[in-house]
Amino acid sequence: MSFRMGLIGCGGMGRRHISGYLKLRMHYNDVELISVCDVHKDVADAAIKPIYESGLNKPKIYSNYSDLIASDNLDGVAIVTSTPMHHKIAIEAMNSGLHVITEKPMGLTMKACRLMEESVKSNNKILAVAENYRRDPINRLSKAILDEGILGDLYFTLDIGLVSSASAVMHSTVWRAKKNQAGGVVLDAGVHNADMLLYLMGPAETVYAETGVFESKRKLLSMNDVAPRLAGMYGHRREPGFDIGDEVIQDAVDTGFALIRFESGAIGQLVITDVSHGQNTSISNITGSNGTLFRSRSRSGEPIKIVLKNGEEISGDKILELIPDFSLDELTIKLWDGYNRIGSYDLDFLETDSRILAYEYLDWIRAIEKGIYPEVGVLEGKNALGLAYSIVESGISKTKVKISDVISGKINSYQKDIDISEGI
Ligand SMILES: NC(=O)c1ccc[n+]([C@@H]2O[C@H](COP(=O)([O-])OP(=O)(O)OC[C@H]3O[C@@H](n4cnc5c(N)ncnc54)[C@H](O)[C@@H]3O)[C@@H](O)[C@H]2O)c1
Repeated sequence: MSFRMGLIGCGGMGRRHISGYLKLRMHYNDVELISVCDVHKDVADAAIKPIYESGLNKPKIYSNYSDLIASDNLDGVAIVTSTPMHHKIAIEAMNSGLHVITEKPMGLTMKACRLMEESVKSNNKILAVAENYRRDPINRLSKAILDEGILGDLYFTLDIGLVSSASAVMHSTVWRAKKNQAGGVVLDAGVHNADMLLYLMGPAETVYAETGVFESKRKLLSMNDVAPRLAGMYGHRREPGFDIGDEVIQDAVDTGFALIRFESGAIGQLVITDVSHGQNTSISNITGSNGTLFRSRSRSGEPIKIVLKNGEEISGDKILELIPDFSLDELTIKLWDGYNRIGSYDLDFLETDSRILAYEYLDWIRAIEKGIYPEVGVLEGKNALGLAYSIVESGISKTKVKISDVISGKINSYQKDIDISEGI
C-alpha cells in the first residue's frame, strides 16, 4: 500500500517531523508527504526545504488546513500545530475520512480529548499520539527490566525535574505561557513525564498536588538563548505581534509538586518546574523490593543503572545480562542500525529525535495498514494528559483527585474556563 499524508503546523516541531519523515523514507518508500500547511506560508516553505533538497518530491503548501484536508486524496494527516488546534483539525480530518497522528498533548483539555475519541469511534479511524519519550531504546530497556521483575515489587518512584528558564518563555513560543493554550511546563512537558510514569509503573489512581504560577512576567528570548540544541529547528518559525525581548504574561501553571498513587499500590512523586533558578536537578528513579533503577534522560543515550539491595551496582551493557531474552521490537531494530539490544548510544540529539519520529510514523502507518491499535493511541493519550491535568486540578482544588474523575470531566475547575474560551 502506498500511504499519502499531509502535515499541518510547520513550526519547531513541524520541522522536526520533517526530519523524521526523511529518516522514515530511508527505510520505507511507500509513504509520501504530499502536502503541508502553516498559517504562515513562508514558514512552511522554509520547513520543507530539506525535503526537496534531498531529491524527494516537494510537498504542496497550504495556509488553510481545511483546504489541505479537502484536497489531494490523502490517507492521513500529522497535526503539529500548537496544542489548541489539535482537536479541531483531528475531528475535521477524521470526518473527512483521514487517519490522524497528533503531537502531544493529545488535545487542549480532557473534553477536547473526549470529542476526539468520539470522532475516532464514529469514523472508525486510527488516531495515534506522537508521544516520543517511551520509544527511546533506553526507555524500552527500563520497561523490560521492570516487566522481568528485576526490581521485585515496586514501592515508589521519584521524577524530579527542576530547571530554570531564567524567566523566559519556554521554546521561545508565546503560546507556551498561556493557560488557554495548554501552556506551562506542568502540562506541556509534564505530559511526557506522565506518559513515562504510566508506561513504567502502570495505571495511576489518585493525585494530590500543590501548584503555582510563580513567574507571570516572562520574556520572549531567542531559541539560541533558551534551547540552543533546538535552535536550528525553530529559526524559521514566526511569532506575530511579538519581538525578541518583549514581556509575555504567563498565566499557565509553572510549578507542580505532586504525589501519585498507582493502582499497584506504589507511590510516585512528580515535581516539575521551570523557575528553579540557580538549581538544575533531574532525578528519575524507581525503587522496588530488590533495589533501585536510576533512569537516564530520555533521548540522551546515557545508560541506566541499577543498585541492588546488597549494594551491587550494574549499568551499561551489563544490564542487558539481567534480561537475556529481551529484544527490541522490529521497527526499533530497523531504525537503530540493526541492533536488537541497546544499553547506551552516542548520537547527536537531532539524529535520535528523527529516528524516534520515524518510529512514530511507522507505528501509525502499520496500525492503519493492519487495522490494529497504535502503540500510543486515544487511551494512552487521554491517560497521560489526565495525569498531567490531575496535578493542575488538584493544585487549584487543594484536594486529592481521582484521575478517572479528571479524565471523565467530573473534575474540571482549571479546564472549564479553557473549554468556554475555546468553544469546546
Ligand atoms: N513531542 C515533543 O517532544 C514535542 C516537542 C515540541 C513540541 N511538541 C508539540 O508540538 C506542537 C507544536 O509545537 P511547536 O513547538 O512546534 O510550536 P510552534 O509554535 O513552533 O509551531 C506551531 C506551528 O503551527 C502553526 N499553526 C498554528 N495554528 C495553525 C493553524 N490553524 N493552521 C496551520 N498552522 C497553524 C504555527 O504558525 C506554527 O508555525 C505542540 O502541540 C507541542 O506540544 C512536541
